[in-house]
Order: sequence, then structure tokens, then C-alpha cells
Amino acid sequence: MTSELCTHVVVPGTFDPVTLGHMDVIHRARKIFPQVTVAVAESRRKHGTGTEFTLEERVDMLRGALQDDGLTEGIEVVPFSGLLVEFCKEHGAGGVVKGLRATTDFEYELQQADLNTYMAPDLESIFVMSNPKYGYVSSSIVREIAAMGGDVDFLVPPNVAKRLRAHYA
Ligand code: PNS
Repeated sequence: MTSELCTHVVVPGTFDPVTLGHMDVIHRARKIFPQVTVAVAESRRKHGTGTEFTLEERVDMLRGALQDDGLTEGIEVVPFSGLLVEFCKEHGAGGVVKGLRATTDFEYELQQADLNTYMAPDLESIFVMSNPKYGYVSSSIVREIAAMGGDVDFLVPPNVAKRLRAHYA
């Protein structure tokens, strides 16, 4: 057990693609901690599916969105594969910050947080409650609407909306 002050946190995710909800969580993590690393997971194996966007595209969209919002100081976007706890150890981060939208997120997030605690007892799992404005926003909803030609400007940063239009054109 360590009582070292936590100054560097990781905001992990698949970001397929990054949404305004993710941006809100990153922004709030940066308000609390001086150093934030946004860790973009290589691939989501859930249900045997891959991602819609490549790792490079997802990293690029995140960097573009942060740049456009002037959110660059103390924030870095880094791709990763493998275990999140190992990534945090390698980067010297003391905590993981994630957003919680609704009770539906809770069970999944608790399971991941518990597993991470077993593997890395000193790594803190920190949750911020989603801004109610973005409680319904998810990457899968964004992909679904965009794939059907719907407008997603109210769900994602402008550079992402542009990229989605080109992707599904
Ligand atoms: O955006 P998501 O899908 O909620 O992100 C999930 C992510 C990437 C944070 C999670 O799947 C993860 O930590 N993956 C890395 C592999 C790992 O460490 N697995 C064990 C923790 S359950």
C-alpha cells in the first residue's frame, strides 16, 4: 500500500470513435490531475468484433479533437495493447479515470476495476459521473446513426463528425 500523491492518471478506452462524452471525461480528469494520458486500446475483442476505425485513425481523431479544444497541455494520447495495469506501470500513472453514465455502466466498470485492483493493488480506479448532457452518448450509437446517414454533430467533436461523413460516404 502506498500513500503517494497521485498526479498522473490514465483515461483508457477504445474511442471508436471519441465522443463528446469522452471529451468531457478527459477534460474533467485534467481539471483534477496535472498529467493525463489518454490510452487508446488497440482492439476490442468483445463479442468477437474488432473496431470500426483503425488504431491510428482513433488516435488521430482524439489528438485532433483535443487540439481543436485547446486541450493539449498536460494531456497526451498514446496507443496501447496488452494489459491496462502494465501500461499504467510503464507510464508511472497512479490511477485510471473513467466516466460512469448510468447504472448500466456500473457492473462492467466495477468488474474491470476489481480485476485491475487484484493485478495492481496500488492503482486507483477513479470514476467521474457523466455530464447529464452526454448520458446517452456512446460510440456504438454514433456509429449506428452515422452509418445510416444521420447527423452526429451533436454527439462528437467537429473533426470526428467530418471523418465519419467521409468514412460512411
Ligand atoms: O472504451 P471501453 O471499451 O470501455 O474501454 C475498455 C478498456 C480498453 C479500458 C478495457 O477493455 C481495457 O482496459 N483493456 C485492456 C486489457 C485489460 O487490461 N484487460 C483487463 C481489465 S478488465
